[in-house]
Amino acid sequence: MSTPIIELENVNKSFGPIDVLHDINLRVRAGEVLCLLGDNGAGKSTLIKTLAGVHKPTSGTVKFDGKPVEFDNPKQAQDMGIATVHQFGGTFPLMSIGRSFFVGVEPTKGWGIFKRYDRKTANEIAVKAVQDFGITRIDDGDRLIGGLSGGERQSLAIARAVHFGARVLILDEPTAALGVKQASHVLRIVLEAKKRGLAVIFITHQVMHAMTVGDHFGVLIKGALAADFRKGEKSREEITDLMAGGEALADLGEEVEEYMATHDGHAPPPQH
Ligand SMILES: Nc1ncnc2c1ncn2[C@@H]1O[C@H](COP(=O)(O)OP(=O)(O)OP(=O)(O)O)[C@@H](O)[C@H]1O
Ligand SMILES: [Mg+2]
Repeated sequence: MSTPIIELENVNKSFGPIDVLHDINLRVRAGEVLCLLGDNGAGKSTLIKTLAGVHKPTSGTVKFDGKPVEFDNPKQAQDMGIATVHQFGGTFPLMSIGRSFFVGVEPTKGWGIFKRYDRKTANEIAVKAVQDFGITRIDDGDRLIGGLSGGERQSLAIARAVHFGARVLILDEPTAALGVKQASHVLRIVLEAKKRGLAVIFITHQVMHAMTVGDHFGVLIKGALAADFRKGEKSREEITDLMAGGEALADLGEEVEEYMATHDGHAPPPQH
């Protein structure tokens, strides 16, 4: 198998006295979608924030292309090709599609005092990039972000990340607030990103969404990776139980806590 693009080795994260992540080991390869599952407060967002340069791990290593990396800020992670799409973050309702696509890297025309934003070029490139992803309803770069549906906004953000060369795409609950049709739109875009060879980390609370796009699943319980399995290894019922707080989840939660109490705070190795 190829070298994972992203790899976490024994990653721990504490905020002061609060231990949020315990000994996380995970890897994601090019063209693979890792679904990160787990209840509210399990540590999913904290985990991806350590990959996005928002938090530094308290201990452990994050590797990119097999080499250890440390990010001082989100910009450094972005420059390496790790794009994070937050649910409602990053876009401004009153900005045009073309503008928001190029925010910070606007194409210009003219020189010196005549230099100005090249609206036409920005719009053309943005609309083409988005349409290449199959979002053909967006055909006018002057339209405002505020007029797009939630699904279209998510898709635009993903298309933008891919256009600017992202190799890792991190999506924190992109389908949470969407209806069925819009969510399936976003899932299709995720599969397209996968097809283009990106490594995708996808957080969701919805089993069907996870099962539609996931190649690999990691279940976090109380900050520990309680289960780590590949597509086809667990049934929908088993996954639902793990995700939704069924009996198996409660049992597993207790097991994890007992193990940690008797093993110096270390989490048990994940079940397969
Ligand atoms: N900056 C922080 N300082 C202290 N505790 C924090 C901080 N950030 C997160 N936590 C705690 O870490 C735990 C995990 O939070 P996190 O946001 O990662 O959960 P999550 O799995 O993303 O949950 P949700 O599904 O609700 O989004 C929570 O108990 C939270 O209160
Ligand atoms: Mg979260």
